[in-house]
Amino acid sequence: MKEKSNNLTRRDFIGRTGAVAAGLTILPGNVISGFGHKAPSDKLNIAVVGIGGMGNSNLKAVAPTENIVALCDVDWGYAKKVFEANPNAKRYWDWRKMYEEMGKSIDAVIVATADHSHCIVASNAITMGKHVYVQKPLTHSVYESRLLTKLAAKYKVATQMGNQGSSGEGVNLTVEWLQNGEIGDVKKVESFTDRPIWPQGLNVPKGEWVPDTLNWDLFIGPAKMRPYNSLYTPWNWRGWWDFGTGALGDMACHILHPVFKGLKLKYPIKAQGSSTLLLTDCAPNAQMVRLVYPERVAAKGSKMKLPEVEVIWYDGGLEPPKPAGWPAGKDMNNGGGGVIFHGTKDKLICGCYGRDPWLLSGRVPANVPKTERRVTTTHEMDWVRACKESPESRVPTKSDFSEAGPFNEMVVMGVLAVRLQALNKELEWNGEKMEFTNIGENDSIRIVTEDRFTIVDGDPRFDRKWTDPMNARTFAAEMVKHTYRQGGWTLPEMPA
Ligand SMILES: NC(=O)c1ccc[n+]([C@@H]2O[C@H](COP(=O)([O-])OP(=O)(O)OC[C@H]3O[C@@H](n4cnc5c(N)ncnc54)[C@H](O)[C@@H]3O)[C@@H](O)[C@H]2O)c1
Repeated sequence: MKEKSNNLTRRDFIGRTGAVAAGLTILPGNVISGFGHKAPSDKLNIAVVGIGGMGNSNLKAVAPTENIVALCDVDWGYAKKVFEANPNAKRYWDWRKMYEEMGKSIDAVIVATADHSHCIVASNAITMGKHVYVQKPLTHSVYESRLLTKLAAKYKVATQMGNQGSSGEGVNLTVEWLQNGEIGDVKKVESFTDRPIWPQGLNVPKGEWVPDTLNWDLFIGPAKMRPYNSLYTPWNWRGWWDFGTGALGDMACHILHPVFKGLKLKYPIKAQGSSTLLLTDCAPNAQMVRLVYPERVAAKGSKMKLPEVEVIWYDGGLEPPKPAGWPAGKDMNNGGGGVIFHGTKDKLICGCYGRDPWLLSGRVPANVPKTERRVTTTHEMDWVRACKESPESRVPTKSDFSEAGPFNEMVVMGVLAVRLQALNKELEWNGEKMEFTNIGENDSIRIVTEDRFTIVDGDPRFDRKWTDPMNARTFAAEMVKHTYRQGGWTLPEMPA
């Protein structure tokens, strides 16, 4: 199963002779998996966790040139076709067992499970020195994003979040146009998606028998146990707060990436959200979020200043108002959403993944310096390339965790703003400390657990069940950093 070249490449040779000269004993890269480097022609041994949906697309992108050595899924019915298509890969239910048994022979892991288990699967791979490709949203909480960012830096592994648009031309062009000052300085951005296209705004369903092919306990993983229902998995976990992140988590990693990158954002300082009926368990049908970022230092050579900027997000089919001069009949939705950058000189509009950028004035930017690296393979294969490079000279992927981690914090901050909307205030955020600074010690919050609206004899009956008042600080802190379920679901320590 394991295929590695025994031939020394020129780079191996230089690396080893350098180490010998320094009086060190260096184990070959194939002994300390993940810490060495490989020749591009050497194959990576890749494990995939969560193969029934997007994981299979990621797998197919790397399988032609790399070894798929292990596959892990909690639903062997849904995953059956992928297991069968990869008969040489060892099959697992539990990624922990897979790491225990095959840890030494795996070089890299692709994670494409439901959002709530991304971090625990990826972080435990990173501390074993494995390179990781993790689907978007990178994690389910701010703390988890910070943890993956710091672990990736500490263990020097190659990383990539699965927002494939970051390897595309749309993001490159949008970033270059902004930095070349094509629209002046940006103080406001509006963005939207037409998602959710899966059910949301639902009461918690009753329990059902778990299918024989599904290990529900392993699907739940670090989350709180609840009775199984077929509404949760596959796919529809997106709309349930314990497992997914609603429309924001699903689409903002694609749509807001050119905003985060192009405007050099890091941590927001203010957040507020509103939505259609907010429930304790299920994401609302439509949401609006406003995040404020402080003034930033412009990149060297950038012709754009970076003043304080507000970023507004709409979902559930809502769109920002069309600005004056919008071409009549032109659909604002391009590939599932879009963005309007309001500049001091012009407006830049792009679709999902930053695609097809254009200026509202109709002017077409010319002679814009091409400062962004172009990916000529695919998002997945660019990560494979990075895995094979030594950490010292590695060219980071287009969604390396040093950027994807802080960016993902933006996305999950939107979720926090919506889930804390009952506080009825603009929340102030200390990004370094991962804390809201204006939630009082004794502030409390109540949220609807169930909406039992009915019509009896033509009479509407409003009947909502609420939680008891909860301490708002404790509730917010739990959403920033989740308490994981007991029984083997632990995260590595946060590096200093
Ligand atoms: N980049 C993109 O364009 C894109 C598109 C779709 C989905 N995604 C992302 O991919 C991830 C998966 O989404 P999906 O649509 O494939 O969902 P899905 O439910 O169709 O597939 C998830 C798979 O993971 C398995 N799984 C769940 N928890 C697991 C665990 N703990 N261990 C092992 N297997 C587990 C499920 O059984 C299922 O086979 C999500 O994070 C999603 O946001 C990205």
